[in-house]
This record gives sequence, C-alpha cells and structure tokens, in this order.
Amino acid sequence: MVLVSGSGTNLQALLDAAADDAFGAAVVAVGADRDGIEGLARAERAAVPTFVTRVGDHATRAAWDAALAARIAEHKPDLVVSAGFMKILGPSVLDVWPVVNTHPALLPAFPGAHAVRDALAYGVRVTGCTVHLVDSGVDTGPVIAQEAVAVLDGDDEDSLHERIKTVERRMLVEVVGRMARDGWHADGRHVRFGRAEN
Ligand code: GRF
Repeated sequence: MVLVSGSGTNLQALLDAAADDAFGAAVVAVGADRDGIEGLARAERAAVPTFVTRVGDHATRAAWDAALAARIAEHKPDLVVSAGFMKILGPSVLDVWPVVNTHPALLPAFPGAHAVRDALAYGVRVTGCTVHLVDSGVDTGPVIAQEAVAVLDGDDEDSLHERIKTVERRMLVEVVGRMARDGWHADGRHVRFGRAEN
C-alpha cells in the first residue's frame, strides 16, 4: 500500500507498473494525511481503495499513528510505501510493516522536507534521490537504492525537483518490483534483494 500527501506522481508510476501482473506487486490501498489531493484522485481513478487519517483529528501524535496503523491493517499489506507522504511515522506503523520511503536527495545529505531547496542553497553540483527503509529517525533508515542527478546552471527548486522526480519514479518502481519479486533482507544498514541465506 502507498501513503501520499500531494500530487502522487510516484504513486502513479507504481499504479502503472502494477497494471502488469509481471510486476509482482499490487497497490492494495492508498492512504493520505489530508483530503483533496491529486494523489487520492489518482487512486480513485485506478479503483484502488483510499482512506484519509488527519493528524488534527487526533488528540496526540501517538493516537494518530495508531489510527493510521489500524487503517493500514485493514488492507493487510506486505509493504508500506511512503511516496511523498509528508509526515513522520511512529512505532504503531513502523513496528508492524516494513516501510520504504523515497527522498529527493542523496542521503545522508539533505534530509527533511526541503531537500531540493537545501541542496540548491548549499551549492552542490550533484544531488539525486534515495529509496530507503524507514526507521524512527528523519530520513535515516538503511539505503536501498540511489541515483545521482546533476544540478544545472539556472536550476530553480521546481526545475531541479522535476528532473529528480523523473529518476525517482523509475527507481521507486524498480525497487518495489524487485522487493516483491525477489524478496529482500536487511543486514544492519545494508539492504539486499533476494531472500536471506540461513
Ligand atoms: C517526491 O520528490 C518525494 O521524494 C518528495 O515529494 C515528492 C512527491 O512527489 N518527498 P509526488 O507526490 O509523488 O508527485
């Protein structure tokens, strides 16, 4: 299942890939932390069940996390994909399902919600995107895949983010497909495709 907060183009890439049975994974549901976003509309057009769990509807962050986990559990996913989901997940979710996040920078550089802006401000000539397992930190979990994207003279946040997202969507689809088809295991900070050898 996929969690979104915005335009949902990464979600769309997964929906498109999953339309082919050979992909090996289906998007069983899409959850969001807010209404009225294109990400939810994309799921509805694809006839995928949706739900919204708003932080503001809960007395505490922990209560929100537990409510989100309850909604996720209804769909019995093997994997949760955070694709532009702009909230930090808590233990009610993270202790139950593996969660994969896509981030528009080469972690550990530029974690957080403004990665593209921060990379531009720093003046790096190369940035990129990272797909990683989510742990209790902010963009600190084990890296699964990364690709570099050059920063061009004249780039602004939008132009650079769009170029990163083109790479990000392809990489996310590749990673989720391989996790589903080949299995995966984490050995400390190293994530490998294929089942663990005993
Ligand atoms: C992606 O770049 C993601 O890494 C970042 O926000 C963007 C979401 O884009 N956190 P979309 O909603 O999938 O189009």
